[in-house]
Amino acid sequence: MHLPDPILGGDVSLERTIQQRRTIRSFESRALTLKQFSQLLWAAQGITGKGGFKRAAPSAGALHPMDIYGAIGGDCIEKLDPGVYQYEPANHSISLFQEGDVRRDIAIASLGQMWMAHPPLTLVITAEYSRIMVKYGQRGIRYAMIEAGHIGQNIFLQSQAMGLEAGIVGAFEDEKVIQIMGIKKTHEPLLIMPVGYER
Ligand SMILES: Cc1cc2nc3c(=O)[nH]c(=O)nc-3n(C[C@H](O)[C@H](O)[C@H](O)COP(=O)(O)O)c2cc1C
Repeated sequence: MHLPDPILGGDVSLERTIQQRRTIRSFESRALTLKQFSQLLWAAQGITGKGGFKRAAPSAGALHPMDIYGAIGGDCIEKLDPGVYQYEPANHSISLFQEGDVRRDIAIASLGQMWMAHPPLTLVITAEYSRIMVKYGQRGIRYAMIEAGHIGQNIFLQSQAMGLEAGIVGAFEDEKVIQIMGIKKTHEPLLIMPVGYER
């Protein structure tokens, strides 16, 4: 499914978003719009340069080892059924990766941080190290982890700019998250970011 085009002129200043950014752990279950989902994915990994290979977040060697998945429940994002969706930066679209609401299972796999089950959207940032290790060897693993941090901050600031809040979670059991989401074992989850309206 092609996503709405991202908006390039928000109402909130960059400085304000930086000043207001906080890790939030208490959320309403209120739904997001497809435009908000689109905007968050664009901020995370959207194509921003001519030629199609420069993105919103920097990437060592522009090798882009990261993927973004969005797990949603029923009535969480307009027009979308519950499931895990994968972002496809090349054409700013999403594809249904796995059916069903896995937010609660992800919360359980995140050492029982059950607050994560409430917001409508759970973004999962994964790294496929082989894409970057071809050039940088072992050091590529470090670079991918640094890249995850850039993507995470973009998600935080974009959330703020739209009146949303985000949490950030690094405490989870990798294998369980991989299994729950049905992703390849070579895609290591590095950060999980629930997004929604603060309660
Ligand atoms: C890599 C990383 C992992 C984190 N993991 C968790 C987590 O598992 N659960 C959680 O509630 N917060 C987690 N946090 C959020 C931090 O606790 C939070 O950033 C810190 O308390 C500072 O608060 P602030 O983000 O509101 O400025 C994590 C933050 C980072 C950067």
